[in-house]
Amino acid sequence: TGAGASPEVSPGGGSDLALITPGTLTVCSDIPYPPFEFEEGGEYTGFDMDIIREVAGGLGLDVVIKDVGFDGLQSGASLAAGQCDIGASAMTITEAREKNIDFSEPYYDSLQSLLVPKDSEIKALADLAGKRVGVQQGTTGEAYAREHLPKDTEILAYPSDAELFPALQSGGVDAVLQDLPVNLGHTQDGAYTVVEKYETDEQYGFAVKEEGSEALLKAVNAELAELRESGKYQEIYDKYFTE
Ligand code: ARG
Repeated sequence: TGAGASPEVSPGGGSDLALITPGTLTVCSDIPYPPFEFEEGGEYTGFDMDIIREVAGGLGLDVVIKDVGFDGLQSGASLAAGQCDIGASAMTITEAREKNIDFSEPYYDSLQSLLVPKDSEIKALADLAGKRVGVQQGTTGEAYAREHLPKDTEILAYPSDAELFPALQSGGVDAVLQDLPVNLGHTQDGAYTVVEKYETDEQYGFAVKEEGSEALLKAVNAELAELRESGKYQEIYDKYFTE
């Protein structure tokens, strides 16, 4: 080890991790999805971004974040195509996804919810008969909507949260069904409200491709455990969540 080498750098600067760019953790996400990933002052930030930067830092790696869209990420296509080493995108660990992706240990617990304008008469899923509901394409919110909404509810799937919430604002949809923390973010100005929560027991995990990611996954899990132990995880959690 030469003079000046940082002691946290793993042997070979992560060369055992089979990274796309040696020395760099290339991260795929779908942005915006506040408070997990969003842009602020020309930088990608948020809960996921802070955690993944800490993980990479612990492994002595730089971070590059790419905004690739959610559907290709959750299907495993972006990872299989070599667009990135890891997905950090508030992605729920599901059995269906586990066929194409490997997940880290869970790093966040979540659930589904229904967001409507404050003055809406919609108070529950049953009130959505004959109405339009917006979801993000390829998400667990979309899956929940397809399974639980009345048969004559029209489900509109948007590629990104950047189109989904504006659709509610313009009246293009009557309600939005998606992860609770993200819907709660849209209630902050008081014009929208979460009327129902659905206990789907979701857990988010970081995603890697199935083949050849064993060393990376092990290293990421070790760093996650370390972040929890050191209190750093809690510190980042408290920065974005009040409960
Ligand atoms: N947790 C949900 C899922 O896994 C939604 C995630 C959407 N993430 C995003 N960055 N847009 O399907």
